[in-house]
Amino acid sequence: MVVGLGTGSTAKHAVDKIAELLNLGKLNNIVGIPTSSITHEQAVSLGIPLSDLNKHPIVDIAIDGADEIDPQMNLVKGRGGSLLREKMVEAASKKFIVIVDESKLVSHLGGTGLAMPVEIVPFCWKFTLKRLEMLFIEAGCVGKLRVVGESGEPYVTDNGNYIIDLFFKGDMGNLKEASDAILSLAGVVEHGMFIDMANTVIVAGNLGQSNWGC
Ligand code: A5P
Repeated sequence: MVVGLGTGSTAKHAVDKIAELLNLGKLNNIVGIPTSSITHEQAVSLGIPLSDLNKHPIVDIAIDGADEIDPQMNLVKGRGGSLLREKMVEAASKKFIVIVDESKLVSHLGGTGLAMPVEIVPFCWKFTLKRLEMLFIEAGCVGKLRVVGESGEPYVTDNGNYIIDLFFKGDMGNLKEASDAILSLAGVVEHGMFIDMANTVIVAGNLGQSNWGC
């Protein structure tokens, strides 16, 4: 099997478990496709055989976390800084499993007042930030360049890009329309809304685990 290896504090546990099962001989004949350089490092350190989408363009299963998930299983991802490689690998997956805890459940995306990340090219980033804000002016959208800690230096993604975090005071509206509008801007590489991509969601909560989807 070809397995997409997600990124973040939740996905890290899944990668650890895959390595454990491989070492115990309970899992055989798999290759992993990491969705970030940090997951790549983790997988290498654990001895998981790796590949990429060039060699394996069809991924059997991908497992990843999420920052927000709505009742239709649409996601916000990328608050940890990885979204483009995640989206590429997960869009190529026959089955995409999302693992979250209850804190990630929302009634609609972007409504928590927390960041909706957009990966952009560094060239004239202030211009792109303004254009992103203008798209959602009625929703009181404010964009902020993501920086590294207190340094004020831009956070640079695995792909050499910047991230603009969008914050909404109101509703960003129809997700597909918002997605199309963001992607229509030259300078935008990808955004963190994963619409209609998840097949299964596993939610951990105080009362145990619940599964959505198939
Ligand atoms: C990486 O940037 C993200 O897309 C993560 O998958 C997402 O932020 C969830 O991360 P946690 O599992 O750490 O909450």
